[in-house]
Amino acid sequence: MAVQIQPIKGMNDVLPAEIGAWQYFEACTRELLAGYGYEEIRVPLLEHTELFKRAIGEHTDVVGKEMYTFVDRGGDSLTLRPEATAGIVRALISNGLLRGQRHKLWCLGPMFRHEAPQAGRYRQFWQVDVEAVGCPGPDVDGELIALGTRLWQRLGITGLKLEINSLGTAESRREYRARLVEYFTAHESQLDADSRRRLGGNPLRILDSKNPQLQELIRGAPLLTEHLDSDSRAHFEALCASLRAVGIPYEINPRLVRGLDYYNRTVFEWITASTGAQNAVCSGGRYDGLIAQLGGDATPAVGFAMGVERLVALLVAAGRTPAAAHPDVYVVVSGTQAAAQALALVERLRNERPQLRFELNAGGGNFKAQFRRADKSGAPVALILGDDELARGVVAMKPLRASTGQTECPIAQLAAGVDAALAAAGQAGRS
Ligand code: HAM
Repeated sequence: MAVQIQPIKGMNDVLPAEIGAWQYFEACTRELLAGYGYEEIRVPLLEHTELFKRAIGEHTDVVGKEMYTFVDRGGDSLTLRPEATAGIVRALISNGLLRGQRHKLWCLGPMFRHEAPQAGRYRQFWQVDVEAVGCPGPDVDGELIALGTRLWQRLGITGLKLEINSLGTAESRREYRARLVEYFTAHESQLDADSRRRLGGNPLRILDSKNPQLQELIRGAPLLTEHLDSDSRAHFEALCASLRAVGIPYEINPRLVRGLDYYNRTVFEWITASTGAQNAVCSGGRYDGLIAQLGGDATPAVGFAMGVERLVALLVAAGRTPAAAHPDVYVVVSGTQAAAQALALVERLRNERPQLRFELNAGGGNFKAQFRRADKSGAPVALILGDDELARGVVAMKPLRASTGQTECPIAQLAAGVDAALAAAGQAGRS
């Protein structure tokens, strides 16, 4: 027997049994985003590696350790996108869409990071990414947070906590960075290897460490919020006031720094207690400097991305997945004449009743086997196309979930007969 090819670690198949929850999540999200005026954008999975290095930052874990980077046949270094913001910004610049214009965009698709896989953390994972480009004020930060909050409500996901923080300007962050390096260098002997490595490149990330032995040291570290410039402070206070006005509970987490370098001012994250260490289900923030940094006209922007697997898992845990779809009518076929006519007959029915789902028995089988499949399909009604009946110009109909008996319907009135059988079976055809 040939050796089986294994799936790639950390990359998942979404099976038909799971797809209903995904589709429900996507449909709710699409509808809500449209309601807030966001338009869909699709950008390539591959970009020049340089884009992510410049946007996300060389010293981040994502760029330093997690990117799927390769040289293509033309000799270019390309990378499978680890996130969507950089590609969307690149697309706005490449297509000349900035020049003072505003854009509200969203994008759904897989992202790739070579992380250690565990529950909720994958190497290919899906995000819904949402970006508001061209608005400097805290108003749009607040509206994005309101959008996220409304989505959790619509989906019926509870128990999420919103954490927010302000990173200030690039200058106030630089100043803060220097204070942090000073502090952690003074305590270097207490740091673990990871944090020591970060001290040189990205000391803010030490604050994110999950190592329990470092927590006391981290608690004693200087706080970013103490180093905010006055404009950033005013921006943050206005955001907090608007969240209070709309009744969205939040917690200020002065240690929330985010893992990507492009952020300034507002950063936020919704976290859940229920997915263990992988607890962020949606994260984002403002990135006012990124567009200019990538060669576009200086344009402020803010956005967030949801982790679809993590949110779908919460939906499933909350029992909020739609019931699996089943056919309305299962078509049983018996005899050679009937087999020859079945396809044409069912295709005609599909023309006449495009809203109904028909499952035409495939692969033959005797009557008993076909009825077993019909039962398993969940259809409320079976049509029986038999040679005898067809010779008489009729089709038999049998309710599969009720004890009422089999009836016959003239072929010429079959669509109306199906409607009646479905109505009698307690399931009027969907419109
Ligand atoms: P991020 O925090 O790197 O931000 O990812 C956003 C969300 O994607 C996380 O909150 C998490 O739910 C999910 N996620 C991240 N990594 C994984 C993984 N390995 N497996 C499963 N889910 C994961 C960004 O990507 C930014 N681009 C968000 C943003 C948009 N900021 C501004 N605009």
